[in-house]
Order: sequence, then structure tokens, then C-alpha cells
Amino acid sequence: MSETRKVTIFGSGLVGCQWAMLFAAAGFQVALHDAKEGQAARALQQIDSQLRDLSAKGHLRGCLSAEQQQQLISAPGSLDEALDGAFLVQECVFEDVQVKRDVFRLLDAKAPAEAFLCSSTSCIMPSEFTSELPGRARCLVAHPVNPPYFLSLVELVPSPFTDPAAVQTVKETLVKLGQEPIVINYEIDGFAVNRLQYAIINEAWRLVTSGR
Ligand SMILES: NC(=O)c1ccc[n+]([C@@H]2O[C@H](COP(=O)([O-])OP(=O)(O)OC[C@H]3O[C@@H](n4cnc5c(N)ncnc54)[C@H](O)[C@@H]3O)[C@@H](O)[C@H]2O)c1
Repeated sequence: MSETRKVTIFGSGLVGCQWAMLFAAAGFQVALHDAKEGQAARALQQIDSQLRDLSAKGHLRGCLSAEQQQQLISAPGSLDEALDGAFLVQECVFEDVQVKRDVFRLLDAKAPAEAFLCSSTSCIMPSEFTSELPGRARCLVAHPVNPPYFLSLVELVPSPFTDPAAVQTVKETLVKLGQEPIVINYEIDGFAVNRLQYAIINEAWRLVTSGR
């Protein structure tokens, strides 16, 4: 397995770190970027520690060693450097529609023209933050399930403007990671995973509160 293509992880918190590890396990180069001073560097250290721990416990994904995977991940000093040469950007910032709008406007202006722009959002429909963009055809949601390193399901949610070819290429890329992407064919509140989870949680509460 030697995948030399580059991805940018935009937002290096919980989910950003997990995406970085998944891409590196499949041999992709990964550049981390975060708006918070020092966060991407801290994320690199956390990833290093997690990879060593996973390796020691026999849970490391992919064929590369923990050290080789760590070497594929970097935290460049500038956004331009982080985006340079990326074929896919995975956004992992706060779950706030205005933050997503600002970030996607920035990414559409700065990322390479051919790069796919994916959001990790758990429930915001992609048209809510991409419909005004010149590059809206390359934008879609790729919603992982926590913890993505161990749960392979990813919901792919295109907006009405997303190019079907972009959905297909992102899907094929995620399969290379060992993930199991499913495509939701239309935008719907909560996508599918949250709707199913909330139905189960509601029923559990109903059973508890029924007192029997
Ligand atoms: N945590 C989960 O269980 C989970 C599961 C699936 C999807 N998600 C989704 O993934 C996304 C990220 O969630 P998380 O749990 O990793 O959040 P988090 O708070 O752990 O990390 C968010 C990171 O984004 C950075 N950030 C915020 N605004 C930014 C900006 N404008 N530019 C660059 N970086 C910015 C923050 O500094 C932080 O490091 C959310 O959309 C969330 O809904 C989360």
C-alpha cells in the first residue's frame, strides 16, 4: 500500500485527529491545520502517542508502522502550505453553521481547484453552508461515526448542487481507508444515523419512564 496523495484536515480536535490517523494508515500524506494557536502541533503529539499505543495493543490499522504513519502527518505553519497540493480537504471544525459557512468560503477560495471539500458535520445539511459558493459542486458531507478509527460507517450527504462524480471519488477514497461509506441520496434533517440513534434512545427512555 503506497498512497502518496495529500489530504488536508481542517480542524484538529477529536474528529480531525481520527481522520488524520485513518488517512495516514492508508498511506496518504496528511496536513493538519487549526485556527487555534498551537493546536495542530498538540494534535500531532496526541496522534503520535495514540499510534504508539494502538501499535502496542495490536490495534494499529494499515500495513505501515506507527513511526511511518506518524511521518506522513504534519502541521504546516500556514494555511496555504497545508492546502498546497491537497486533493481532498476534510473539515472538522465546530458544529456551528456560521463557522462552517466561513470555513467553506475560505476553503473554496484557497484550496486547489480540483480538491474535494468534505465536512464532518453531524447534522447540518451541506446546502446550508455551500450553496453560495462558486465551487459548491465539489462540496459534500462525509459524516463519520465516533470513534471513526473503530467504527467504519461514514454517511456521504451531497447537496442538490454536488457533482455526483465528486461523491463517487470521495466514496472510493474512503473505501481505500477501510471505511464503509453509504450515500444518502437527498438532504434530510439528522441524516440517517442520528435519526436511527434518536429513535432507539427515545424508545429506551419510553421503556424506562413507563415504570415497568
Ligand atoms: N465528536 C464526535 O463524536 C463527532 C462525531 C462525528 C462528527 N463530528 C463532527 O466533527 C466536527 C468536529 O467535531 P470535534 O468533536 O472534533 O470538535 P472539537 O471541538 O474536538 O474540534 C474542533 C476543532 O476545530 C478548530 N476550529 C474551530 N474553528 C475553526 C476554524 N474557523 N478554522 C480552523 N479550525 C477551527 C478548533 O480549534 C478545534 O481544534 C463537528 O462538525 C462535529 O459535529 C463529531
